[in-house]
Amino acid sequence: MVRKLVMLGCGGFIGSHLLDLLLPTGDYEIEGWDPDYQKIEQHLNNPNFHLHACGIHEGSERAALGDAIERADAVVNLAAICNPAEYNTRPLDVIRANFLDIYPVVEMCADHGTWLMTFSTCEVYGRTLAGYLPEPLRGNPQYFELDEEITPFIMGPIRNQRWTYATAKALMERLVYAYHKEHGLPFTVVRPLNFFGPRMDYIPGRDGEGTPRVLACFMSALLNREPMQLVDGGTARRTIVSIYEAVDAIARMLRRPEQAKNQIFNIGNRNNETTIAELADRMRRTYARITGDASYDEHPIVSVSSEQFYGEGYEDCDRRMPSTVKAASLLGWTAKIPLDEVLEDTMTYFHNTYGQNIPAGALA
Ligand code: NAD
Ligand code: UGA
Repeated sequence: MVRKLVMLGCGGFIGSHLLDLLLPTGDYEIEGWDPDYQKIEQHLNNPNFHLHACGIHEGSERAALGDAIERADAVVNLAAICNPAEYNTRPLDVIRANFLDIYPVVEMCADHGTWLMTFSTCEVYGRTLAGYLPEPLRGNPQYFELDEEITPFIMGPIRNQRWTYATAKALMERLVYAYHKEHGLPFTVVRPLNFFGPRMDYIPGRDGEGTPRVLACFMSALLNREPMQLVDGGTARRTIVSIYEAVDAIARMLRRPEQAKNQIFNIGNRNNETTIAELADRMRRTYARITGDASYDEHPIVSVSSEQFYGEGYEDCDRRMPSTVKAASLLGWTAKIPLDEVLEDTMTYFHNTYGQNIPAGALA
């Protein structure tokens, strides 16, 4: 039975929802690390939760972290920089946060034989083989479906610094696997595919600065009555999964260590595939319904180049269709919540949280 958990990066989007799910059960004692704890203030007084409000890379934390890992039944590692606008603009920080800072955690888990459940990304698959093939072959699932055990990783050249994140995560996965093979480290690698839900990222100019992931970018455009921007026409495809179903998958792993250990899992929803252009359209129509303001049905959507939007060195993942056979067979988990429901729930949260001062009238 997994009872004592260490959770690194517990104050972020996924961490906050995982704490919401695990703490009320009373089954877990959780020791967390994150310098940012705005999203988890509701848990700070819970006797089963202890937060170290600082980064795992801070030298002064090393002893406390080592002791906690020694005591723990499992370490859930969520700490990362995982915002695409930063991959080509802060590449050194991205490599540091996603690989170098995690290296000592992997070593400590191996030293103590503590199960390490570490969050990677579907971005390790990079681009699909289908994207390089002639049109008639692109529809063949063997060229676009992402399978944990057989799909190769296809990333762009070094000057396209978008891939710093994916390569740092991929090296972190290889490090974990090498420790497993050489030193018996029990591990689980989770590869999430575009989780959406309340508390994802921030709205620029309100509770954060910069360019967040697409959900918050589009929400920000709607809230500020500015055009939604489609990067390179919005032809890239994503599959979107509800955060509530996603954290349920993680809870199942914790409850079924024998099934989850030493496995790599895609966590995504195959039925919720959309192009980004379609996503923008669905989101503006959903927001028209939520606000009762029909002008949102025609909210402006414009196309921008990736160079304009992200700067030099961006390159996109064309498509992300996960195989989820392993999660279904080992965890009994399949995502079911349809995209419209995910958007309705998530956008209602954003509206209730940020929607007070929307400028009047539609944008010309
Ligand atoms: P997030 O940015 O909301 O949360 C990450 C948290 O890690 C932040 O609160 C940040 O303060 C913290 N952190 C960063 N560096 C730290 C350090 N050195 N020490 C302690 N805490 C640190 O991101 P998220 O969406 O919750 O993602 C969590 C994990 O899942 C990441 O590893 C990410 O790469 C992965 N992931 C998420 C998604 C998704 O759809 N949300 C998709 C793919 C992969
Ligand atoms: C994201 C992040 O890399 C990670 O958090 C995570 O590892 C990964 O998702 C994942 O889920 O596995 P990505 O989906 O590319 O990667 O990032 P988003 O910001 O969500 O962008 C999705 C798509 O929307 C991209 O094609 C992007 O170019 C586009 N986009 C983004 C727009 O067209 N307009 C915007 O305003 C923002």
